[in-house]
Amino acid sequence: MRVIEQISQMQSWSERERCSGSRIALVPTMGFLHEGHLSLVREARSKGTRLAVSIFVNPAQFAPSEDYAAYPRDLDRDRYLLERESVDVVFCPSVAEMYPERYQTYVDVEEMGAPLCGAGRPGHFRGVATVVAKLFNIVRPHVAVFGQKDFQQLQIIRRLARDLNLDVEIVAHPTVREKDGLALSSRNSYLDPSERQAALCLYRALKVAESLVQRGENNCATILSAVTAEITREPRARVDYAELRDPESLKEVGRIERPTLLALAVWIGKARLIDNIILAPGRN
Ligand code: PAF
Repeated sequence: MRVIEQISQMQSWSERERCSGSRIALVPTMGFLHEGHLSLVREARSKGTRLAVSIFVNPAQFAPSEDYAAYPRDLDRDRYLLERESVDVVFCPSVAEMYPERYQTYVDVEEMGAPLCGAGRPGHFRGVATVVAKLFNIVRPHVAVFGQKDFQQLQIIRRLARDLNLDVEIVAHPTVREKDGLALSSRNSYLDPSERQAALCLYRALKVAESLVQRGENNCATILSAVTAEITREPRARVDYAELRDPESLKEVGRIERPTLLALAVWIGKARLIDNIILAPGRN
């Protein structure tokens, strides 16, 4: 497995592979890999003939008040795990390599980046869209795989690829969960054992919504009040948002008449956890 830190070397590798007919699959990550990332890697392996993983904790997607400095990192372990997955190349640039002095160009997917996580984290998706556009230009993948746990991010990246005519196929991979339903996330490492238990309220709330919709409920206000009640039964949980939105446009909906995104962000201690489900009337 090659480990590349320089943009020029990464671009040369991709150029060579493309010229020799390889199909490059990319999994962009911020490292501190868990089973969720590894399942993206395995999906990517099945989509291409060369497999690249990027590891870069992107400062542009963190506000100054957020956990950029504290974000968990373990590059040696990440490299070991990726080697075992037969990854061909790991791209792990420095911040100075990605954002050199006088850097000033950003990509903003304006409308879709504003609600949900964008409301509480202004500028977050501008940072995500910018780094993903840069990674696509550097690694030049034919296909890139993203997890559905970050549903808003996934849809923003799809929009970005369409709007900027980027020649890359975006593949969505289902959320990977622990046996008890907790969605895997690097930020789960912030949870102590009792918070880890408390964090299950997100999954329970998704299930409450799913069962209401299964039983024919389609009024969003009713569903959201049941979801919020389920989360707030957990004293250590603080709801950041619980919203029902169209999965494509991310616009708010009033009734569930077609597949609808239920997206949650909940603080448990110092961890802000997100999760989501698509509620489909008559199909759950
Ligand atoms: O989902 C993530 O880990 C990050 O937001 C991404 C897509 C790698 C961009 O930094």
